[in-house]
Amino acid sequence: MQIIIYDDAQQVAINATKWVQSLIKEKTEPVLGLATGSTPIRLYQELVAQYKAGNCSFTNVTSFNLDEYHSISESNPQSYRSFMQDNLFNHVDIDRANTFLPTCSQDQNPRVQGLAYEEKIKQAGGIDLQILGIGANGHIGFNEPTSSLTSRTRIKTLTQQTLTDNSRLFADNEIQPAMAMTMGIATIMGARYVLLMATGKNKAQAVKDMITGAVSANCPASMLQMHENAVILLDKEAASMLDDHSYYQWADKQNRKLNEEYGFYHNF
Ligand code: PGA
Repeated sequence: MQIIIYDDAQQVAINATKWVQSLIKEKTEPVLGLATGSTPIRLYQELVAQYKAGNCSFTNVTSFNLDEYHSISESNPQSYRSFMQDNLFNHVDIDRANTFLPTCSQDQNPRVQGLAYEEKIKQAGGIDLQILGIGANGHIGFNEPTSSLTSRTRIKTLTQQTLTDNSRLFADNEIQPAMAMTMGIATIMGARYVLLMATGKNKAQAVKDMITGAVSANCPASMLQMHENAVILLDKEAASMLDDHSYYQWADKQNRKLNEEYGFYHNF
């Protein structure tokens, strides 16, 4: 794992943006894994700003989102499709036909839909860079604690903690879905790079469990310890329960030097 600690959430977003921009620049047909939630919003704002400044184009990008609520229409403002339209897709030149979410309506078989999503990712050549947040309970995507570490895209029932954490996003008269389709942990592990962002004090325990805890289905993000190219971008608050700040900072400095010398900081 490459752990990089920044002063604040804005620095996390600015540096995550650099990763996405270099992927888009380096690959002719980049495949980007996207996430929803509060954490990636600043990243999307930065990407839109970079696009508007003429510094990147999404015309050749194919995207796969981590998750989508079960049985929700695309046009519902609470759908993750709407989130992506509002925060990114409507503001950049991505071809909407190349943007995918693991949708599943009430009359579709979630198992069939899950397999079809996996197949679509495969046909696109796999995900080059998967953007991730982390839940306060250690979930990635909607892979809640006890999720199989070898899971693939499927339907999951959300935990009470996730429902409570996300209830802030729903008005009193809106129904909050209790089930979602989500990429599995093995799907996420299949991405060539994963870039996980965590900000704020309420993520500190989950971050500590992910980085220094045992690999366990109780903290699904801990599986990233087994990923060859996992990059973890933290603000100081999210990193506040880690012991080894000075090592992570020093290692980051060394990696930057190596990058300048050999250009192998990343290689999509
Ligand atoms: P958040 O969610 O960015 O809204 O905190 C992260 C997650 O649940 O993965």
